[in-house]
Amino acid sequence: FSDFLTDSFGRQHSYLRISLTEKCNLRCQYCMPEEGVPLTPKADLLTTEEILTLARLFVKEGVDKIRLTGGEPLIRPDVVDIVAQLHRLEGLRTIGVTTNGINLARLLPQLQKAGLTAINISLDTLVPAKFEFIVRRKGFHKVMEGIHKAIELGYSPVKVNCVVMRGLNEDELLDFAALTKGLPLDVRFIEYMPFDGQMYLDTQYNSNLVTAPNTGNKWNFKKMVSYKEMLDTLRGRWPELEKLPEEESSTAKAFKIPGFQGQVSFITSMSEHFCGTCNRLRITADGNLKVCLFGNSEVSLRDHLRAGASEEELLRIIGAAVGRKKRQHAGMFSISQMKNRPMILIGPLPTSD
Ligand code: GTP
Ligand code: 5AD
Ligand code: SF4
Repeated sequence: FSDFLTDSFGRQHSYLRISLTEKCNLRCQYCMPEEGVPLTPKADLLTTEEILTLARLFVKEGVDKIRLTGGEPLIRPDVVDIVAQLHRLEGLRTIGVTTNGINLARLLPQLQKAGLTAINISLDTLVPAKFEFIVRRKGFHKVMEGIHKAIELGYSPVKVNCVVMRGLNEDELLDFAALTKGLPLDVRFIEYMPFDGQMYLDTQYNSNLVTAPNTGNKWNFKKMVSYKEMLDTLRGRWPELEKLPEEESSTAKAFKIPGFQGQVSFITSMSEHFCGTCNRLRITADGNLKVCLFGNSEVSLRDHLRAGASEEELLRIIGAAVGRKKRQHAGMFSISQMKNRPMILIGPLPTSD
């Protein structure tokens, strides 16, 4: 495995997340403010060719899994073509997408043909009216259609990402878990994390700004429902809930209700970090390499590419960034105070048009 992708703690980064766009067709409350976030001018975003050049380089060095994220990756017009071209890269075993599901049913047959192997779909509620409240747009039935299409086309498991927020959808844990009875889903309950659109906007113009505690994605400690609490709720209903063996470098702790077809998992980014086995790197839509989701040090691969950097030069720059990766993120409190891009501008999640 490449030294360039191995950090000073020996973690080998074989999983690359590439953001295809900052735009989104939804406006999820936990992801961004109602008005959206200011978008990078198109000329500053990676072109398809640049994305593929970088992907090729990372795969050559040992990356075997690429996940396409956004914004909402499925609104990039050439997403099918990008998947098809990635599919040609020798050594790449998994090509995944994390989507809000709105365009999924329509595009999935083509994406599957192009070589897409894994699908994660965001869905935070099973109540249509609540869906519209959380994502500030319509589309619940389209997302459900997307989930069923993914099952029909044989994806297994189909992962459903559910961000749990107190007072909003914590009362739906049992309903979500019950879905796994007859469907091959992995419902993943995610601890609500602080990412802040507004704070990010402000810091663009004033880097000395002392960050305000009332964050733009409306995060606060009280709204976060911890893994332990969620687990207790599920155990209350299904005491026979069984822990499944940990998958290497997975963000999720998985459980199964005996006899159910699917499983439920917890992504405990806040209460129990999983930095020790982290194998991820990400590239933002504007071409920055981000070695940690919760870190704000970034290096522009785009600028080096456009300046004509050779492969060796790029690798040295990537290697230096990976080498600076910290052992773990700074802890819950620091994260909540941190100036970071909102999720939409990092890679995980759905956002704007
Ligand atoms: P798989 O590839 O299926 O394992 O999915 P994933 O969990 O890597 O990706 P997904 O895009 O579905 O992200 C789901 C959630 O995982 C996000 O909301 C985050 O909470 C969390 N997550 C993803 N990447 C990272 C990361 O690098 N660090 C941390 N701490 N959490 C992450
Ligand atoms: N906290 C937790 N998860 C979030 N996501 C987006 N914003 C947040 C947040 N503040 C999730 C989305 C998507 C995944 C990639 O990131 O639900 O499924
Ligand atoms: Fe990896 Fe950083 Fe996430 Fe920890 S916080 S798991 S180091 S990306």
